[in-house]
Amino acid sequence: MSILIKNAFLVFEDRVEKGDLLTKDNQIAQVGGCIEAPADRIIEAEGCYVFPGFIDTHTHFDLEVGNTVTADNFPSGTKAALAGGTTTILDFATQERGMTLMDAFHKWQKKAQGSSCNYGFHMAVSEWNQERIAEIPLMIENGITSFKMYMVYDNMRLSDGVIYQAIQYLQDEDCIIGVHCENDDILQARVRELKAQGKTSPRYHAISRPNLIEADGVGRLMDAANLAKGPAWVVHLSTKEGLDIARRARERGQEVYLESCPQYLVLEESNYDEPDAAKYVMSPPLRSKADQEALLRAMAAGEIDWIGTDHCSFTMAQKAAGERDFSKTPNGGAGVQNRAELVYTRGVKGGYFDMVAMGQLMSTRAAKLFGMYPQKGTLQVGSDADLVIFDPHCPHEIHAATNLHNCDNSPYEGFLAEGKTRDVILNGELAVENGAVAITGKGQYICRRRCGRYRK
Ligand code: URP
Ligand code: ZN
Repeated sequence: MSILIKNAFLVFEDRVEKGDLLTKDNQIAQVGGCIEAPADRIIEAEGCYVFPGFIDTHTHFDLEVGNTVTADNFPSGTKAALAGGTTTILDFATQERGMTLMDAFHKWQKKAQGSSCNYGFHMAVSEWNQERIAEIPLMIENGITSFKMYMVYDNMRLSDGVIYQAIQYLQDEDCIIGVHCENDDILQARVRELKAQGKTSPRYHAISRPNLIEADGVGRLMDAANLAKGPAWVVHLSTKEGLDIARRARERGQEVYLESCPQYLVLEESNYDEPDAAKYVMSPPLRSKADQEALLRAMAAGEIDWIGTDHCSFTMAQKAAGERDFSKTPNGGAGVQNRAELVYTRGVKGGYFDMVAMGQLMSTRAAKLFGMYPQKGTLQVGSDADLVIFDPHCPHEIHAATNLHNCDNSPYEGFLAEGKTRDVILNGELAVENGAVAITGKGQYICRRRCGRYRK
């Protein structure tokens, strides 16, 4: 199968150039200039941008949370991802206490069967001991070179000492740990305090976890990584205070990678006053306009490395578990389909950064750090034919009813997006055509290499 894309704006890593791109089987065969070659399909892309396939570094599909499971599984979540231009997701396989890392890996491989976009896993670990450490070589062999540790959630929480030891061990292997940074002790005390005062609605979820709760976690992670002499990756950074702490760590020479999410760029704490506010109960919570501004400027300056969605969807019926107590609401929201249109609208049309920066935030840097570059994340001859044709002139509203997520709500309901993913080429095939998913179930497992630590 060969596909010739004509007259597009090609988004390279350092520039945008008008030209053509030819794929042959699952590779980019030619890129740039005017290409006159026969092809099975010719796609006219005048006025559109061609990006390397987008990579979502942070999804939770088919995740059991308490006594419920996320609304999206891999088939529904990856189909929605693909429609939005995401050709690779990295989901968090989760090792529950008492389980081996290999058991978790096999469990997630099974869950991911039938995926419509390519997929890989980070391994979220809930224990760090000799047995788990002995499995790390097997993880690397099987393409898992990034891990996650939580400072929160009773079933996953690990101590600062463990995080320090894990960073120390894994950095020698060129593996990295993403950390969910929050101060659990204080936030739990605040939850108890609020509930005792009868403050139980969703807005108190945010009040229980103010900016300093995250900033404290980021600070402890930076110190642990500094002492361990290894890299630090902050997942879903949401605050200007956390950003400042990470900046200071970089200034003293530390290797720090920062991820943020669309919800911290377009939604804000006032959303908790809406009637269906349970859909905004996620951790970290929504923040202020000042935080949005700081994150967007940091993206423009290249300080934030990439944007993942933290897609972790629950229906309103599931969210109703917290009707009388915000702390019982399953945490998370749906967004895997909407990342590109949100980032484009808020970041590019909002005047903060250009399409080159968008390509870096949506694809290139994630491909580099997570061991997929240059097969993914770049428009180079020989790279995989995972491509997005993005139409910058396509105003439309986001609605849960038209999203492909298996979820009856969207935190972005009614958001006016300016551009939209038009076509997607996945593994060399035209998988999304004019916004409609044409091919499903053809996602492949990405056995990733060790981390490409570009900030070392
Ligand atoms: O609220 C969220 N983000 N839920 C998903 C799990 C996590 O904390 O990343
Ligand atoms: Zn998450």
